[in-house]
Amino acid sequence: MRVLMLAPAFPSEMPFFARGLASVGARVVGVGDQPVAALPSMTREALGDYIQVPSLFDDDAVLGQVRQFAEGSPIDRVETLWEPLVLLAAKLRQGLELPGMTVEQAVAFRDKERMKQVLEEAGVRVPRHSRESTVRGCLEAAERIGFPLIIKPIAGAGSADTYKVSDRSELEDVLPLIRHVPTVSVEEYIEGEEYTFDTICANGRILYYNISWYRPKPLVARTVEWISPQTVTLRDPDAAALAGGRRLGRAVIEALGYRDGFTHMEWFLTPLGEAVFGEIGARPPGARSVETMNYACDIDVFAGWAQAVLHGRLAQPVERRYNSAIIFKRAQGRGRIRHISGLESLLTRFHQHVVSVELLPPGTPRRNWKNTLLSDGWVIVRHPHLPTLLHIADCFGTDLQLHAE
Ligand SMILES: Nc1ncnc2c1ncn2[C@@H]1O[C@H](COP(=O)(O)OP(=O)(O)O)[C@@H](O)[C@H]1O
Ligand SMILES: [Mg+2]
Repeated sequence: MRVLMLAPAFPSEMPFFARGLASVGARVVGVGDQPVAALPSMTREALGDYIQVPSLFDDDAVLGQVRQFAEGSPIDRVETLWEPLVLLAAKLRQGLELPGMTVEQAVAFRDKERMKQVLEEAGVRVPRHSRESTVRGCLEAAERIGFPLIIKPIAGAGSADTYKVSDRSELEDVLPLIRHVPTVSVEEYIEGEEYTFDTICANGRILYYNISWYRPKPLVARTVEWISPQTVTLRDPDAAALAGGRRLGRAVIEALGYRDGFTHMEWFLTPLGEAVFGEIGARPPGARSVETMNYACDIDVFAGWAQAVLHGRLAQPVERRYNSAIIFKRAQGRGRIRHISGLESLLTRFHQHVVSVELLPPGTPRRNWKNTLLSDGWVIVRHPHLPTLLHIADCFGTDLQLHAE
């Protein structure tokens, strides 16, 4: 089977998905904007063919080039695991008359207002919401919805241009900051803890699911630099306290008619125990979450996704053995990383629970922590017992420090 994979090299997890596809027998046709020589070796080894396009964001040009390729070598499926290309993948399927998610379905995954509208019609609890593109519209929506509220781009990512607003005067302060965003969602602010519900589906059935817990909520993580944010993949996603989220997740997938591939939903658990929808993407979670899923079960979720989309089943048994947490670090100071403190003693204390350390080495310039959750590096730890895992993760949060100048 010939599978077209959009963006097989970026973001950094994509080579693993490309390798997964090749490992289950697909002939992988990559589509990307880099020259072959610039692709990571894992991607190059996984690819049977490669179509280099001038830009992945010129839909018509990509369709033209892919069509030309497909005349000589027919394509069976189009896949992407990168959010900005979900709609392009659907357009290519439509243009090539291939099965899989349609443009209409893809829009419901990309447009946060359309998403909530479809889900509301299906009886799913979503925050009260409104689509607005003028200052006056935002002010009126705020009156209807009430404070506190959230204002965010209609098709955003990574909490960019997202604000919590507590009253009218804060709203008036925020509106000029988001003037460059043409259309926004104004939403009821949902208090509570924030979790994910991630799935791999085949033929509309959930073959694998995962619940991760954000510590703290992504919006807080993106607002306060000194925090070392954690994503904690839970060993027991079947816990009674999370039942509402599981029900919500299943209802959302059904309402959106999702059939094959990865999904990544975010939801809130309120202090009263209510599960409220946040958002969903037709793609895996980013920021190395798939790796934490691998470490939680000692499986290869990248290959699992490929097995599901190609063969409709998961070949690996899922035994949940550990909670695993990724802790993202942000250096103190600006410029280049100069030294790292605390790592040795943490490794001495917790070495058997530490599965990955990927900190920027001294001499490297800091990454922009606002643009990437990966920040200046990360550590992944795991432990069967959740309170112990949280303790270890918090020690890496507080006692490991990167210094830059
Ligand atoms: N209605 C809401 N109530 C409370 N927090 C919200 C709400 N909407 C968004 N947030 C916060 O903002 C973050 C980013 O919003 P989200 O809709 O997930 O957009 P993105 O595509 O940027 O991830 C969420 O993870 C959450 O922390
Ligand atoms: Mg989100």
